[in-house]
Amino acid sequence: MPDNNLAIVILAAGQGTRMKSSTPKLLHPIAGVPLVGHVLATARALDAAHVVAVVRYERDRLAEVISSELPDSIIVDQDEVPGTGRAVEQAVDALPADFEGDVLVVNGDVPLLDADTLSALVARHREERTAATLLSAVLDDATGYGRIIRGESGGLDRIVEQKDASVEERAVREINAGVYLFTLGALRAQLANLTTDNAQGEKYLTDVVGLLRKAGNAVAAIPVAEPWLVEGVNDRAQLSAQALRLNSFIVRGWQMAGVTIQDPASTWIDLTVSLAPDVTVKPGTQLLGATAVETGAVIGPDTTLVDCEVGEGAEVKRTDATLAVIGAGASVGPFSFLRPGTILGADGKIGAFVETKNARIGAGSKVPHLSYVGDAEIGEQSNIGAGSIFANYDGVKKHSSVVGSHVRTGSHGVFVAPVRIGDGAYTGAGTVVRKDVPAGALAINVAPQRNMDGWTESHRPGTAAAEAAARAQHTSPEEN
Ligand code: UD1
Ligand code: CA
Repeated sequence: MPDNNLAIVILAAGQGTRMKSSTPKLLHPIAGVPLVGHVLATARALDAAHVVAVVRYERDRLAEVISSELPDSIIVDQDEVPGTGRAVEQAVDALPADFEGDVLVVNGDVPLLDADTLSALVARHREERTAATLLSAVLDDATGYGRIIRGESGGLDRIVEQKDASVEERAVREINAGVYLFTLGALRAQLANLTTDNAQGEKYLTDVVGLLRKAGNAVAAIPVAEPWLVEGVNDRAQLSAQALRLNSFIVRGWQMAGVTIQDPASTWIDLTVSLAPDVTVKPGTQLLGATAVETGAVIGPDTTLVDCEVGEGAEVKRTDATLAVIGAGASVGPFSFLRPGTILGADGKIGAFVETKNARIGAGSKVPHLSYVGDAEIGEQSNIGAGSIFANYDGVKKHSSVVGSHVRTGSHGVFVAPVRIGDGAYTGAGTVVRKDVPAGALAINVAPQRNMDGWTESHRPGTAAAEAAARAQHTSPEEN
């Protein structure tokens, strides 16, 4: 049921200077989803009447991600006045005039914050009828965060930012998590009183808390049970820490759903991946993007799949694949490189040191060794000999080739595209196929072999090879 008295404000205008990146902080991904995407997903789960996202730095890139995740959200451009207080002020101004109720403000950089924690905050705020309720956390190292300053009775008094804090205040380990619930009227009243008179010359949202308190409003800070829920991402160390934690939850989730994951520490699975029960994932494996794996498949070790589909019972080892479809019962690897557009049919095989791209390889067909198959279509039950190359590029354009069903090509074949090989045809070893091969034909175009007897002894006299040749010629067959 939608909560008509709730609006959510997501703060996403900051640059994220500490990331030292040309990509805005909130677009750095963890588990395959940009940081802001995690917060948007949580916001969506709360089903609020309005979601407002405040952007400024790289606003177009952020706005695009936000609008695609939450099409109904209101996007607000923060002006030149810096600070979280200014961001919220503009967000509140963008709310429809008839909206009344509570405003949940969330920093965009807290990816592990979940909907349950937020729902509990909303419920608590409404029960206690405070003007502001915020989440806090007790950290071993509170460096960089705003500190929760409590009065003698233990109640929340104000928040002081790291850069404005005294030595005593910096010793406080209870931090402001950056997650607040405000009653709209009270918030509006105090936003108007914010100044930029502080160490960073910004309008701090955190000052609203102290101002409310001074004006006699009730405010409260609730410590969360698990600090990681509200840990922000400000630099790349925190980015990897939160990514690691989220990954461990995802891995555990799939284990509980019936997937064997042998080594959680070396397995990375994006949030967007789906795995069937009885899939086995071996060490050193990354399952990324929209990858989906059917039951009984065995993936890894040392395999990266990006946006791939793997059919039931298939086996994929030591492979790098992107946008590939691997059929049921098929076998891929070791050391295979599947590029976009690879479609391997049921029970097919792509073997060791084989690269494929835009290649349809039919059911039961095999490319077992040392080959490149680019821009090709291969029918069913065909076998491509070891060391084959589909030469798809003439230096200017790419061309495609077609191989029929039940074809056997010899080792070290070159198929100069565009070329067609008919059903049941054969090609000899070392054949360079430049012309179509009709169904059922054998194509060979290598010159007949000529042996020049005694060549080594006459042209390379005195070498070890010549001596070996001489010995071999003067040895009787019985001694051999
Ligand atoms: C903020 C809090 C701090 C808290 C911490 C929790 C303030 C003043 N401080 O500090 O008390 O402990 O979060 O993680 O709020 N943003 C804007 N507009 C701006 C500046 C920032 O939208 O002008 C956004 C950022 O994109 C980010 C969020 O607000 O999503 C927080 O900004 P950040 O610079 O990370 O604040 P902190 O210094 O971490
Ligand atoms: Ca932050």
